[in-house]
Amino acid sequence: MDHVAEIKNRIPIEDLVSQYVQLKKVGRNFKGLCPFHSERSPSFYVSTEKQLAYCFGCRKGGDHFKFIQEIEGIDFVEALKMLAEKARVELPTVSHEQREKIRVQKSAKDRIIEMHEIAQSFFEEQLWSPPGSHALSYIRARGVSDDTIKNFHLGYAPAQGSSDAMFRLLIKEGFSKDECEQSGLVLSRNTDNSVHFDRFRNRLMFPISTPLGKVCAFGGRALSKEDEPKYLNSPETPIYHKSDILYGFFEAKNAIRTAGSVVFVEGYMDMIAAYQSGVQNVVATSGTALTNEHLELIKRHSDLLTFSFDADSAGRQATLRAFDLALPLGFTISVAVWDDTAKDPDEMCAKNPQKYIDATKKPQPMSEFLIDYFASVYGTERLDQRVTAAQALVAFIARVQSPLFVDEWIKQASIKLSVSVDALYGELQQYKKTQKKSSQFKMASKSDDSATSTNSQNDKNNDRQLQKSEYLLGLLLTYQSTISLINQMVQPEIFLDPELKSVYRWLLDQYNQCSGGQNEATEAMKSRVQMLMLYVEQMQSDAERTLSEHDAAQEVVAIALQLARSYVTKQKSQYLNNLRTAPTKELKEQILAEYEHLLSYEHRLSIHT
Ligand code: UTP
Ligand code: MN
Repeated sequence: MDHVAEIKNRIPIEDLVSQYVQLKKVGRNFKGLCPFHSERSPSFYVSTEKQLAYCFGCRKGGDHFKFIQEIEGIDFVEALKMLAEKARVELPTVSHEQREKIRVQKSAKDRIIEMHEIAQSFFEEQLWSPPGSHALSYIRARGVSDDTIKNFHLGYAPAQGSSDAMFRLLIKEGFSKDECEQSGLVLSRNTDNSVHFDRFRNRLMFPISTPLGKVCAFGGRALSKEDEPKYLNSPETPIYHKSDILYGFFEAKNAIRTAGSVVFVEGYMDMIAAYQSGVQNVVATSGTALTNEHLELIKRHSDLLTFSFDADSAGRQATLRAFDLALPLGFTISVAVWDDTAKDPDEMCAKNPQKYIDATKKPQPMSEFLIDYFASVYGTERLDQRVTAAQALVAFIARVQSPLFVDEWIKQASIKLSVSVDALYGELQQYKKTQKKSSQFKMASKSDDSATSTNSQNDKNNDRQLQKSEYLLGLLLTYQSTISLINQMVQPEIFLDPELKSVYRWLLDQYNQCSGGQNEATEAMKSRVQMLMLYVEQMQSDAERTLSEHDAAQEVVAIALQLARSYVTKQKSQYLNNLRTAPTKELKEQILAEYEHLLSYEHRLSIHT
């Protein structure tokens, strides 16, 4: 067996994919939200049998390797290396020269990652040696154990003696000055670009990594009060986009999967302290506010969210903003709360780790949190206060989908605010009505836009056309006898996508028993064939019915006719256009001959109706 096949056999594809996507079993396959494009309902499928992970919405994915290449943004060789490691398959060793060559050929992004790996080792080394001793005592004094320090690869960026230690090291390792600056690790003076110095100096370093554990940025904490800012973060670089990356996600991933929930905190130290205290399904944003991208990353792994921000009013504001973002994504949301003995998770963990564990294990549901919050913000003594609180609440309740949740929420609010359940439902109806009006207005203005942009309309039509072609081929592959019904009628040309066209040619060859001809199936075609069959399998499983041969035959004929007709219509207008602009008589005659041919094809099609 070759390495590729062996790796595929050793790693069940659903195991591989579920490190990135939360999968649900449907029939024989798995289904989840596509990691390659943003969507609300899942069109990403994983088939164990076919060893495929593929999105029918955006058509990304494929086998183990294609999936990893696309999701990690790496090439085949790197994917092979990564998966071989996971599968414990030994690849033939690469010589030193070959390795050098690969390194030179590596993409700019990979080189920046490599620079970060070098930086991380350097910072770590510094922390555990004399220059870093004050940083080590600082972090130990904050209650972080040596094991935790090592697990999170904390480090120290030196300053004494030189301010360009990092820069010199990177140059020595063969990186250019431009690359050093691009990585964000090195700065140059504005006035004279030839002077370079390290971005991070005399700071405790927190490496920030990708979901796969590749270090891609740093946060550096000042070690004295005078040093500003308190945390200095890497800038946006080709490998680091703050809005996509969650601090600690790589370390927390397994715990998130086991717990089925995620605890969100605000700071690096909060993340580490919570993790060390036993709350390991914890992540933090890194030097930025929570974004939709953060939540979408989490949504692939878990539906339960617990926010655990600072216990002050800024923290509560941040919590409300987070609700706003998370509600439309369909999370079940709660909040970790405790008494006023600690201002943030880090402090709570230092004082009483068990209390923090309890606060995250038995969090307060979002509904209760909001009722308490608005009651305390607006007051509950006078009727007008209670009305204001109720109206603020209703704006959140209106976005909850499950009627059972809504009902429970309204019951609780009615008790706390001493207003009747009916009155609250009344407020809810009213709120929804005003929302509807404004959203109808939005729809109207939207359709105005699209009327003027025929491009997007064309895109949509082409997409629908492509989907129909895929469905037709999927059916033909699944119910092979149905080819006989259309092989006379459907020319390969009706498939606009070249790969689909060759799949159809290949099918015809098979049917006509002329294998070994020009239409040998390529690897790409073979995997497309598998995907097309998976498509049909999934449609049937979603619809909870299997097509009989007879039904399938009817479908095949109907879709084939639709596609053929729309092909003819398009071709006709194309020919007429060409006819008008044809420069010579010969060309005109040739076009006319083709046009006649097309008309006879159209006639043959009409007999089918
Ligand atoms: P906090 O100011 O709450 O700090 O910032 P903290 O996490 O409690 O830090 P310690 O305990 O004093 O060490 C929360 C997060 O906001 C970002 C960092 O990601 C930090 O962890 N931040 C804060 C910055 O990026 N820059 C800053 O100057 C301050
Ligand atoms: Mn703190």
